[in-house]
This record gives sequence, structure tokens and C-alpha cells, in this order.
Amino acid sequence: MEEKVIEEIRQGEALELIASSNSRRKMYIESYGCQMNFSDSEIVASILIKEGFSTTQNINEADLVFVNTCSIREKAEQTIRKRLEFYNSIKKKENQKMIVGVLGCMAERLKSKFLEEEKLVDIVIGPDAYRDLPNLIKEVDGGKKAVNVILSKEETYADISPVRLGGNGVTAFVSITRGCDNMCTFCVVPYTRGRERSRDPKSIVNECKQLIIDGYKEVTLLGQNVDSYLWYGGGPKKDFKKTDEKTKKNSINFAKLLEKVAINCPNLRIRFSTSNPQDMTLDVIQTMSKYSNICKYIHLPVQSGSSRILKLMRRGYNREEYIKLIDNIKNIMPECAISMDMISGFCTESEEDHQATLSLMDYVKYEYGYMFKYSERPNTPAARMKDDIPENIKQRRLSEIIEKQMSHSLIKNQEKIGKTYEVLIEGTSKKSDNHFYGRTTHNSTVVFPKKDHKKGDLVMVKINECTAATLKGKSI
Ligand code: 5AD
Ligand code: SF4
Repeated sequence: MEEKVIEEIRQGEALELIASSNSRRKMYIESYGCQMNFSDSEIVASILIKEGFSTTQNINEADLVFVNTCSIREKAEQTIRKRLEFYNSIKKKENQKMIVGVLGCMAERLKSKFLEEEKLVDIVIGPDAYRDLPNLIKEVDGGKKAVNVILSKEETYADISPVRLGGNGVTAFVSITRGCDNMCTFCVVPYTRGRERSRDPKSIVNECKQLIIDGYKEVTLLGQNVDSYLWYGGGPKKDFKKTDEKTKKNSINFAKLLEKVAINCPNLRIRFSTSNPQDMTLDVIQTMSKYSNICKYIHLPVQSGSSRILKLMRRGYNREEYIKLIDNIKNIMPECAISMDMISGFCTESEEDHQATLSLMDYVKYEYGYMFKYSERPNTPAARMKDDIPENIKQRRLSEIIEKQMSHSLIKNQEKIGKTYEVLIEGTSKKSDNHFYGRTTHNSTVVFPKKDHKKGDLVMVKINECTAATLKGKSI
């Protein structure tokens, strides 16, 4: 019966039906941060729907408000704190019975500080403890505050079918790894999301197959570092080396997993994120080039173009190795789109280091970039170094990086004018009811006038105009 409710919920319409039933308590979930967090919120919804809760998008009728939080930069935490203060004020003034819960990375980082010092919330729950939510809610119902921030070496939520919240019904995320073992010095993730673990490939393939049945056309395989995916029947990754030859031979790495999904789901477009240059192998690039349903797009964060800074960041590659990887990608898949993450003003970064970043960008010519000023995170290894680049210099360098990226994005898009691309329609353009928007294999957004197509269709679109962010064209 419970399974059936979930099946119905996934089809969207039943959501309203159940949400309008007064016998169920309603939860409202707001997510911040990376795609992984949005994907986790779908797991949380699934766990609670099984317990008889329903979801709502209307805060006024919520019995429970959950904020799934991000700690990656101080600014993200400040924004979220304001939201928590806002919900706390609603609770005090209008709805004293409302339960407010903080989920995810900030919950893990700040632990019971939210309860003891700030008294902002009723529940604090870290990313590996979501199965415990029903118990924590019971504790709060009994008049207590509740916290569980225990990190796990095994939890992958492999058996939980996520409830697809607020998506477009065409594209979905499927998580394949959790946590991260890379320990880049600037990054809070290993502390908020714990040790890296890979999910059973069978459950990944099954979830992708279910997406097809549910009408989805594209999946993004998610992990903090997808390239280090490794399945050998469970157990910590560090013990893999100690296993016997047969187990090693039967193990599944990321290239093999990609291939499995591509073969089992021939009508599904496949993307993945995030790749780590240190772990991306030639196998992965070759598998991408072999299967037409794997999108030709790689998000390959670089963080800096200076080998000296990369070493201080403990990224595990230097400028030359990164360039070699880019060359391999371009040799094997000349049209493959590449995007990056970049950080300006990391500890000790000189003008020369910054120039190395700009020159690397000139070499690669990324399609897009996600660019940030370095933000010191408490208790990370970099927090023991001096955050010595003044704010105005960090900002100026960041502006130069953004300006360069904008010019490259424009050039990359201009190169596409006159060409025709297959576009997966994701919905109606936000700016015009008469236009659809969708994405190409290269992850470029395309807007074009509606004809006799519908959401979820793959159409050929000839590009005739562009900005740095969007391609415009006509379906042919
Ligand atoms: N300061 C600034 N940016 C950061 N990122 C991660 N940690 C920090 C930090 N402390 C950026 C990196 C990463 C992306 C998700 O966020 O570029 O790839
Ligand atoms: Fe933010 Fe990183 Fe946590 Fe994602 S994993 S929510 S980016 S801190």
C-alpha cells in the first residue's frame, strides 16, 4: 500500500490529492547548495511519505518545515541562517506547532549549536541520518529537541525511491556516490558529508529504468566525485586493494557503470557530475565517445591555473596534468563541451598565479564556469593557512575571471550559429509562452518558437542567434 502511494506521488497529480487530505501532516522542504542536496531532499520526502506525511509547496499549511542546507561558502550559510530566522519568527508569531528542521551540510557542521545556542530549530539532522527522521519527529512531538548528525561509512539510501519534487518531469538526478575522500584543503565537504561510498550499481540501473517508465528522458548521475566510483560488493573503498583478484576483476568502476547505464537505458540521455581531474580516466572519456546517449559535456572543476596553488589546495594534479587531460578529451571528442569551477584569491595567491589562471582559461576556452572568491571554512586544512588576500584583490581577480569567461562563452556560442543540434525540450521558456527551452548534448540552453512539439520531445534546432548564456534558433 505504501509503495503504491509513492508510485502515485511520482506521477504528480496524486500529490494534490494527498496534500489536500487533512489527516496527513504536511512538510515543506526548501533546498540550497549542490544538486546532491536537491536529490537528498527527494529522499527525505520519500522517507516521510512512507510514514504518512505529505508534501506541500505552501508554507502556510506546513506542519513541518525543512531547510536542506549548504556550507560551501560563508555567504551560503548567511543566506540560509536568514531563512531559518524567518521560519522561526513564523513559528513564534503564527504557528507554534510548526516543527522547523535543519538538514544537510550546515546541520552537520554546526551540530547542536542550532539547538543549544541559537534555539532556532527543533530538529538538526545530518546527510547520513535521514532514515532516523521519523524517530526525531516523534521526539519533538514528545516535547524534546532532536539531533542526529552521525555520519556513516555505508549509507547510500540505495533502496529508497526518491519522490521527484518540483522537477520538470523530463530530467532527473540519480545519486551514485556519497561523501568525498579527496580532502582538498579549502573544502568543507569531507567534514559535512563524510567518507566516500559507492552505491550498488543494480539499484542505480533500476532507478534509471524506472525513470524511463515514469516518462523521464534524461538522467544526471550525481556524486561529489563520480570518477572515483568503485563497487566491489560493498565495503569501504580503502579495503579494495586487500581483496582477491576475482573480486577486483568483477569490480565496477565509473567507466563500467556509465556503460551499464548507457546500454540498459538506450533511450535515456545520460549526464554526470561532478568530475575530478585527479580521478578522471581515459576509460571514462572513451566510454563517453562510444555511446551516443551519453552527453558530450564534462564539468571539470580546475580551481586554479597555477601548479603552486593547486598543490596548496591539495588537488592531486598540476597545471600540466590538467592540460593533458583536456587535450585527451579534445582529441577523443573534439566537440565535447567543458565547464569549470574556479576560485580566486586562495591563500598566498600572487598576481603571477592569477595570470596562470587566466592563461589556462585562454587555453581551454570553457563553455561555462562557476566562479567564486575563496571563503575560509572553519576547521578545514586551509583554515590553518592565512587567508591573506585582501577582499578587494579577491574581487578584482574574480571580476577578471568572470569577464574572460563571459567572452569565451560568447565565442563558444557564436561558433554554433548556423549549426543544427538535437535539443531535449524541458518546458516553456520563462520569458515567453510562445517559446520552448531545452538543452543540447553540450548542455547549452536553446530557446526556440513552439511548433507541434511537446515537453520531453527531442527536436532538431538550427541556431541563428545567441548571447553568452543562450542559443536561439528554429526547429526544423
Ligand atoms: N571557497 C570558495 N569556493 C569554494 N568551493 C568549494 N569550497 C570553497 C571555498 N571554501 C567551490 C569550488 C567547488 C565548488 C562546488 O565550490 O570551486 O568546486
Ligand atoms: Fe554545499 Fe558541498 Fe554540502 Fe553540496 S556538499 S550542500 S555544495 S557544502
